[in-house]
Amino acid sequence: MDSKLKVGIIGFGRMGGFYLAAMQQSGEWDVAYICDVCQESRELAAKLSPTSIVVDNEQVIFDDPQVQVVVLSTLADARREQVRKALAAGKHIISEKPIADTLDHAWDVVHMTEANPHLLTTANLYLRNSWYHQTIKEFIEQGEIGELAIIRVCHMTPGLAPGEGHEYEGPAFHDCGMHYVDIARWYAGAEFKTWHAQAVRMWSYKDPWWLQCHGTFDNGVVYDITQGFVYGQLAKDQTHNSYIDIIGTKGIARMTHDFKTAVVELRGVTQTHRIERPYGGKNIDRLCARFAASLRSGVRNPHLPTMRDTAMASQYAWMFLDDARQHDMPAIGSLDTLEEIRERRRHMTNGYGLIHRNVRG
Ligand SMILES: NC(=O)c1ccc[n+]([C@@H]2O[C@H](COP(=O)([O-])OP(=O)(O)OC[C@H]3O[C@@H](n4cnc5c(N)ncnc54)[C@H](O)[C@@H]3O)[C@@H](O)[C@H]2O)c1
Repeated sequence: MDSKLKVGIIGFGRMGGFYLAAMQQSGEWDVAYICDVCQESRELAAKLSPTSIVVDNEQVIFDDPQVQVVVLSTLADARREQVRKALAAGKHIISEKPIADTLDHAWDVVHMTEANPHLLTTANLYLRNSWYHQTIKEFIEQGEIGELAIIRVCHMTPGLAPGEGHEYEGPAFHDCGMHYVDIARWYAGAEFKTWHAQAVRMWSYKDPWWLQCHGTFDNGVVYDITQGFVYGQLAKDQTHNSYIDIIGTKGIARMTHDFKTAVVELRGVTQTHRIERPYGGKNIDRLCARFAASLRSGVRNPHLPTMRDTAMASQYAWMFLDDARQHDMPAIGSLDTLEEIRERRRHMTNGYGLIHRNVRG
């Protein structure tokens, strides 16, 4: 396979735009089609990618035998049906997470894709493609921190507020938290064994927008995961707090970032490092490069997340949300404050996880 890989992007919102940019930049891909049901998105697609055929009906892409790969980047409610159509049409699939709108549908996607092993499929669990997590994992594997014992993950931003969109992706701990559930499981190399989750219904919204879960993996590693889009949405100057803290029997490894630069600190028995490099955003370039290389070589890159990994992350994120509902879950604040937040975010041009307005600056 020497020529460019022909791809159709279905869903041209924020993520769809990232795929187009990464694919244009790499020179490995021919973005033959872009599909979106929204006219403004199609106009933008035509402007940004004049060589692509821009359509409002995804079926055109599935019906074109020249298209080898589809990127599924609409919201989650459309995913299972698109996966079914893509597999029936013999297309390889790069899917956004979550891979479906409900857990049952996610497992349908797993079973459908596993029944078609000749077609390459992956989902964008983007943390797995990050340089910082790979650096830390390699350090652990070298034995530098002794035995892995404790995984602490935290991601709190003044990001997507309830009711702003992403309604099919679930509360913040599923929509975003599934990434951190996944990365904890990836570090542990084991399955979750026990959990206890505490959440709060910030602004008295019906669903919790902050949740912390702790427990054990079945190899004895313990974890705590904290995720919330509740971190000072109305602060004059906003900030966030995002880190991973890994503790072994002999040393530690940790990372924090400001969305521009990530800093990894490694304190092992023989080595000390402080590594500062560009954060890398959603790492779509790495995901696409690994996918393209796997297709060209016929050998799946082992770092590509599977649909099963993604369903597992969804499953545990939903279970932790369910667990939190079994305990005291206070409601704090008022819906008036939430409305103030939404109003502020509607007018922000530079902020955390701003909703897609079909205008990309
Ligand atoms: N991997 C990550 O880190 C990450 C980060 C953000 C979002 N996401 C996921 O990516 C997906 C897209 O999120 P987004 O933020 O880009 O949303 P978005 O609202 O910006 O974009 C979605 C686009 O899909 C279009 N669309 C909806 N249904 C369609 C259909 N049936 N056919 C064609 N187009 C359709 C919409 O018009 C919109 O332009 C979501 O599932 C979200 O959870 C993943």
